[in-house]
Amino acid sequence: MSNGELSTRHLLGIKDLNVNDIRLIFDTATNFKEVINRPIKKVPSLRDTTVANLFFENSTRTRLSFELAEKRLSADVVNFSSASSSVKKGETLLDTVNNILSMKVDMVVMRHPSPGAPIFLSKHIDANIINAGDGTHEHPTQALLDAFSMQEKLGDLAGKKICIFGDILHSRVALSNIFCLQKLGAKVRVCGPPTLIPKYIDKLGVSVSYNVRESMEWCDVANILRIQLERQDIKFFPSIREYAQYFGINKDLLDSLDSEVVIMHPGPINRGVEITSDVADSGQSIILQQVENGVAVRMAILYLLAANR
Ligand code: NCD
Repeated sequence: MSNGELSTRHLLGIKDLNVNDIRLIFDTATNFKEVINRPIKKVPSLRDTTVANLFFENSTRTRLSFELAEKRLSADVVNFSSASSSVKKGETLLDTVNNILSMKVDMVVMRHPSPGAPIFLSKHIDANIINAGDGTHEHPTQALLDAFSMQEKLGDLAGKKICIFGDILHSRVALSNIFCLQKLGAKVRVCGPPTLIPKYIDKLGVSVSYNVRESMEWCDVANILRIQLERQDIKFFPSIREYAQYFGINKDLLDSLDSEVVIMHPGPINRGVEITSDVADSGQSIILQQVENGVAVRMAILYLLAANR
C-alpha cells in the first residue's frame, strides 16, 4: 500500500481535496482492486474499527458498496436507516448521531437529504465522517470512482473532454464530478435543457451547451445523469417523452459519431429516458466497471482516513 497521507480527516466534499489526495486515493484503490479480484477478498486493515452507515435517504448501490468495502477491510459494521429509526419520532440529527457514537463508533458514512449535514456533523463529533451524498450538494465518493474509471479507460485525464448530461441543477454527482475532473486537468462541459442547468454554472469554469449531438461530437466521455424527479417541486420540462426525444442518448446518435465516446452513468438508470438500453448495455458503456471500481475506491478512502485517525 501507498505510504502517503490524506490532507484531511474527513471526506466531506471534493472541494476540500487537493490533487495529491486524489492521486493517493487512486493509487490505493488500484491496489485494493487487485485484492478484491483474489479468491480471498478480505484484508485485516480495519480490524477493531467500527463503521456506522447512516442513511437518512434511499440508496442501493452506494450503501451496498460501502458495506462491502468495510467488510472487505474487516471493519465491524452497523447500519442505520432513517425509515426504521427514531428520527421518525422527532429526534434531532445530533442526538441520533451522539447516541450512535456512545456505542464507540470510529467512522461514520452518512447520506442525508440536507446539503451540509455531514459538515455540521464533523464540527460536533470526533469520528471520521464520509459524505455519501448530501442533498443536491456533493457526492465525493461517486466522483472519485467516476474519475478513477475514466482514468482506467483513457489514461491521464489532463486535457480530456468530459461532458455531463442531464439534470445538472439537482445533481450532487454533477458538482462533485466538476470539482474532481477539473482538479485532474480535464475539460468539463455540462449539457441539458436550460431549465436544468444552474444559471451561473459557467463561473465554475465549465462550458455549457443545450445541444446533445454537438456535445456528443465534442466529448471523449459522456457521463449521463438521471432526472431527479424526487427533487423537482415544479415542472422543469413538458414531459418525460419529450425529454427522451430531445435529450436522451440513443444508439442512432452514438453510432453516427466519428469517435467512440465512453458511456457512463452513476445509476440508478431510467432506461428509455436519459439513455436507451442498447446504449447502456453497449460495448462503449463502462457502467458496470464503475460499480466494481466503487468498492475499491471506497476501500481506499476508508483505509486512508482510518490511517489518519
Ligand atoms: C446518485 C445519487 O444518489 O446521488 N446515485 C448514486 O449514488 N449511485 C445519482 C442518482 O440518484 O441519480
